[in-house]
Amino acid sequence: MNPPEEAGQRAQATEEQMTDDERFSLLVAVMGTNDLITVRDERIPEGTPMSAGYVPGVPRLGVPALLMSDASLGVTNPGYREGDTATALPAGIALGASFNPALARESGGMVGREARSRGFNVMLAGGVNLARDPRNGRNFEYISEDPLLTAVLVAESISGIQAEGVISTIKHFTLNCNETNRHWLDAVIDPAAHRESDLLAFEIAIERAKPGSVMTAYNKINGEYAGGNSELLQGALKGAWGYPGWVMSDWGATASWEYALGGLDQDCGSQIDVMMWGAEAFAQPLRDAYANGSLPKERLSDMVRRILRSIYAVGVDSWGAPPEVDMARHHEIALETAREGIVLLKNDGILPLASDTTARIAVVGGHAQVGVPAGTGSSAVVPPGGYAEVIRVGGPSFMGAMRNLYLLPSAPLDELRKLLPDAEIEFDPGMNPAEAALLARRSDVVIAFGIRVEGEGFDSADLSLPWGQDAVIEAVAAANPNTIVVLETGNPVAMPWRDNVKAVIEAWYPGQAGGQAIAEILTGAINPSGRLPVTFPAGLAQTPRPDLPCLAEPWGTPVTIEYTEGAEVGYRWFAQQGEQPLYAFGHGLSYTTFDYSDFLVQGGDTVTVTFAVTNTGGRRGADVPQVYLTGAPDGARMRLLGFERVDLEPGESTQVTVTADPRLLARFDSQAGQAGQAGQAGQAGQWRVTAGTYRVALGSAADSLRLSGETTLEGVLFGP
Ligand code: BGC
Repeated sequence: MNPPEEAGQRAQATEEQMTDDERFSLLVAVMGTNDLITVRDERIPEGTPMSAGYVPGVPRLGVPALLMSDASLGVTNPGYREGDTATALPAGIALGASFNPALARESGGMVGREARSRGFNVMLAGGVNLARDPRNGRNFEYISEDPLLTAVLVAESISGIQAEGVISTIKHFTLNCNETNRHWLDAVIDPAAHRESDLLAFEIAIERAKPGSVMTAYNKINGEYAGGNSELLQGALKGAWGYPGWVMSDWGATASWEYALGGLDQDCGSQIDVMMWGAEAFAQPLRDAYANGSLPKERLSDMVRRILRSIYAVGVDSWGAPPEVDMARHHEIALETAREGIVLLKNDGILPLASDTTARIAVVGGHAQVGVPAGTGSSAVVPPGGYAEVIRVGGPSFMGAMRNLYLLPSAPLDELRKLLPDAEIEFDPGMNPAEAALLARRSDVVIAFGIRVEGEGFDSADLSLPWGQDAVIEAVAAANPNTIVVLETGNPVAMPWRDNVKAVIEAWYPGQAGGQAIAEILTGAINPSGRLPVTFPAGLAQTPRPDLPCLAEPWGTPVTIEYTEGAEVGYRWFAQQGEQPLYAFGHGLSYTTFDYSDFLVQGGDTVTVTFAVTNTGGRRGADVPQVYLTGAPDGARMRLLGFERVDLEPGESTQVTVTADPRLLARFDSQAGQAGQAGQAGQAGQWRVTAGTYRVALGSAADSLRLSGETTLEGVLFGP
């Protein structure tokens, strides 16, 4: 990153030399041709690699064209470029489960290098929407239900991308927490609670990583579309937080040029505007508004300068030779992320399977003979060599065309055969419970796979596994008590068969090396270390919205979702309600054991805790001790204050210190303080730490708190 002042000054100097036509040309990103957009937009010069977005440069001023591509899980190619494949990382939620910032940084670097080697200088990465609803189709793309964990990991991933000279976005600002009818969805939330949850994730990640651009959401927030929401864009983002980069729309989300007055700087996927709203909002309508004085010259200049500033800050205008891309190394990063993201939920002593076992093992279902599933939608990456298989799934509305079961190579069945050479392994496709039970009955051990297709444009109707897989698992578990279930899902699922199986593993969408990682965990070649980044509820009745209001409505129906849980998302909600989930946030087993001791809580400006972690078991393993706020003078609440992933040899101990971000101890007081800085609209409010006693606990999961202590803090008001 280049010095911020210099980038700002250069942006101003360049913008001052531009013609109005040049200025306007920077404000629209057009999509390349693919299966949806079949005719090349004439604004894209011939020979340009097709991708999600193209913005012409201004060669006479040395301003490069912007070539935008999705996204966080690798460089995507939904039909844009013949034969172009890239490293397919595991789902974002798997990265979340690693609780490993260093790994996030590495995978960001990988994405940045692969983007840059193709000439893409803007990655539409950095998905941070909190998992508020286990039905949300895109939770797999994001990180977690917790603002701190999400912000810490996404910031590293963004920094990894930008360190390669590629701008990263952070998205979708904000509350795109359900997919159903996302274009007509009004996400209603208490503004202070919003600051303590989704907005806090954005705030911390933006501070840490300085992403060049913020992508707005499709939905409305409290009645105003995200793209034109001046309270959030001018008030919080650019005002209170002083964000200097540019705000881009989601693809086809700009209904009106007036969003520019609300804080939007660039309209992206503008051809989709025409399909959705009848016209490209930032093409002629914005020029007309400028001509008749409705769009002030200062605002036009500001829009352009923000884009230029990020180009200069990240160094997109001064690329040298393309970076070395070591695809073997990148495969290792995908493999390591899968290994660290897999969560061992239950183990009644059956795992790990001995590598020299001669047992008869039945592998059932999940297309495990072909590959591992990936999430669908704009984040889907075609892996080297192509998909192992694509099964068209479809569905109502035009989003149905995007909905496929993508199977990535690295078939769990083949990988298990490699790691268990003496076992007798047979496969059953899991089509029919009775048929699967036949193989289960004559086997010593059953490994049953449960998969789901989740993705953009769709929320799941419930928590079940599709295609009758729950019945298949029930049947094999009834036929054989030594049943192990491997889930490959993007969200928590119900487990009606849980008490009848010996072990359960959540492997998420584990990416192009996923089959190998699953086999390594099952056989103990790798000690599981993933921890749940989302709460697994026992059922939807435990969640804030047992019925999702819009689920039954056809595409295009205006809907309102009241996020009445406010800031009490996930484990926070379960703590407030006193409910016991199926598996708590932070839960995850290991093949070794860990002990916590010497827990010390100190006050001062914030809470600092120190403690020791010891590996008390017989093999090397990684643990993720978690520090939670459990009590405060201004009301009971639970907040993850910090965590640390530690890797320990048997008998080894390490000392950990966690210092809480004071915003996690505070409440946001919407009435306190002055209006946002720089004369921007709205967004009063400050963070208030109330004087008194704060209770803090150390746990291995949100429902497994082992040591606790308290300290007093003086009252303080800070922010905005
Ligand atoms: C998605 C974005 C994505 C964009 C460009 C939209 O449908 O919501 O996350 O970056 O498409 O492909």
